[in-house]
Amino acid sequence: MTTPIAAVNARTSAQDTAVYRCENVTVEFARDGGTRRVLEDISFELRRGECLSIVGPSGTGKTTLLRVLGGLLAPTGGRVFANDRVVTGAPDDIVIVFQDYSNALLPWRNVLANVALGIESKLPASVVRERVAKTLELVGLSGHARDYPWQLSGGMQQRVQIARALAGAPSVLLMDEPFAALDAMTKEALQDQLLQIQAETGCSCVFITHDIDEAIYLGDQVAVLRGSPGKFVAVEAVRLCKPRDQIITRQGPEFLHHRASLHALLRGAN
Ligand SMILES: Nc1ncnc2c1ncn2[C@@H]1O[C@H](COP(=O)(O)OP(=O)(O)OP(=O)(O)O)[C@@H](O)[C@H]1O
Ligand SMILES: [Mg+2]
Repeated sequence: MTTPIAAVNARTSAQDTAVYRCENVTVEFARDGGTRRVLEDISFELRRGECLSIVGPSGTGKTTLLRVLGGLLAPTGGRVFANDRVVTGAPDDIVIVFQDYSNALLPWRNVLANVALGIESKLPASVVRERVAKTLELVGLSGHARDYPWQLSGGMQQRVQIARALAGAPSVLLMDEPFAALDAMTKEALQDQLLQIQAETGCSCVFITHDIDEAIYLGDQVAVLRGSPGKFVAVEAVRLCKPRDQIITRQGPEFLHHRASLHALLRGAN
């Protein structure tokens, strides 16, 4: 049987624009002489400039999935493609913001040097200086450039990690509950910065959070991970227009509809 031309074209254009494609990914860990399946049958596609938010209870495999996407852990089954290439190691222009910020920074480097870490060997010194200054301003830490990580609060350390990720101007940001340790005002400001950066640079994002509202506000798709092993029980397309607004967007009927439906999915009511 031949494939219709329209189907071939549709497939080709989807592949052109998909920065990530995850096909039936399964992860198992060795345990007690056997194996324990942590993730099962995870599939999604992420297009350029889009954000996939992932929500799910603790222990369902969110960080594990991010490690697979970042090439830090090979899946037991299934395949992950980044820009149409199978991910076999850490891809070049993909940056991970880790959940555990206390181990993400080098304690012997000050804030400036930590933010410069990923770009200092790739770019001229003047460009590095400019990028570091700009991203520190974005995260509100210009006044702490000479401080060391141990002189900063947890939320400030996390903002340094975020600045380092943004300084590299990655094509994909993999973010593991990046704003969880921040106060409400800083969190909202950084959510808006992230949306603005995506609009300006076209970078894509996989964003893990426990906060349903945050998942909707940032997402073009929201995946709900549940169960043991963790499975995507739903991937909802978010059709809220952009640019989004912290007050207007969150009060709209579409937003409230997503919130109710995701709550129900997380409770297992759907
Ligand atoms: N390297 C590993 N070896 C064995 N088991 C692991 C390993 N990494 C994670 N696990 C197990 O996989 C499961 C999922 O862990 P993971 O850290 O991905 O959860 P999570 O959804 O990110 O949780 P949280 O919301 O608390 O951060 C847990 O039961 C954990 O114990
Ligand atoms: Mg986690």
